[in-house]
Amino acid sequence: MTTKKTRITELLGIKYPIFQGGMAWIAESTLAAAVSNAGGLGIIAGGSAPIDYLREQIRRCKSLTDKPFGVNIMLMSPNAEELAQLVIEEGVPVVTTGAGNPGKFMAAWKEAGVKVIPVVPSVALAKRMERSGADAVIAEGTESGGHIGENTTMCLVPQVVDAVEIPVLAAGGIADGRGIAASFMLGAEGVQVGTRFLAADECQVNPVYKELVVKAKDTDSVVTGRYTGHPCRNVKTKFSKMLANGEKDGSLTPEQFEEVTLGSLRKAVQDGNLDEGSFLCGAIAGMVKEVKPCKDIIEEMFGEAEALLSK
Ligand SMILES: Cc1cc2nc3c(=O)[nH]c(=O)nc-3n(C[C@H](O)[C@H](O)[C@H](O)COP(=O)(O)O)c2cc1C
Repeated sequence: MTTKKTRITELLGIKYPIFQGGMAWIAESTLAAAVSNAGGLGIIAGGSAPIDYLREQIRRCKSLTDKPFGVNIMLMSPNAEELAQLVIEEGVPVVTTGAGNPGKFMAAWKEAGVKVIPVVPSVALAKRMERSGADAVIAEGTESGGHIGENTTMCLVPQVVDAVEIPVLAAGGIADGRGIAASFMLGAEGVQVGTRFLAADECQVNPVYKELVVKAKDTDSVVTGRYTGHPCRNVKTKFSKMLANGEKDGSLTPEQFEEVTLGSLRKAVQDGNLDEGSFLCGAIAGMVKEVKPCKDIIEEMFGEAEALLSK
């Protein structure tokens, strides 16, 4: 078995079958271009950012790399409709989608030659995406940073692989070559990684954020907001522990929770604000020990994966 040639590398014309996951407020052109230049697929996060900012980021990414890159569209966000159009206007080669069903945009994207790769938390959504014309799906387990589903990567990936014909990428809890090799053993043909890239040199987050990721132990992630219907995985901080406790003991209503977390990711990313910031991060942070360039991260991961898979 090898990672060197899969349906994902062939479909997208990339060297390594690895996506840097869209990360709202974080994954901008510098990080995306660094990952694409290193042979993976860098992805600019659409989040709820203003369209003019995203247009500028897409153009900047094109000036920094001649390799393919993608844009992530959160379907629940107010800018989804405009962004769906922008990626066509700007000739973005790949779109990944989160938080919902991109069915209504599919025909226009396909006509424009955009490759569409939705993130799915379940077999049912994977099958629906395949029927709508998706080129591949990313099966994302609950170990992931950010908004999460319930199923684990280990359980979800092989079930999605069995259920669809299109290629599957695994996401959630992958930060070294062992994670890639395991994903391939489960039938994935590529991986999407978020948390490991939080500690990349090119990642533009506040240094406090990187330090929290690098210092995190295996037990330092906490899920908050299940009762709002939008659970998120974060690094344990005073703030995230307060949210988790408030949810548990009822001292924070879901409405109060929404109020105190509004804008909290931006406060973490830009200000490193430990009192009011949400430091979204996956459970694998405990294994991330060093800040280094994207190129080194990717080459080390695939060197290790190849050695394991060729045994
Ligand atoms: C800080 C952070 C923000 C994220 N924001 C988004 C987002 O805006 N859209 C999305 O589809 N996924 C988002 N994700 C999920 C990632 O794209 C990716 O699938 C996930 O991080 C993979 O799991 P890992 O963190 O264990 O590597 C985010 C993840 C993190 C860590």
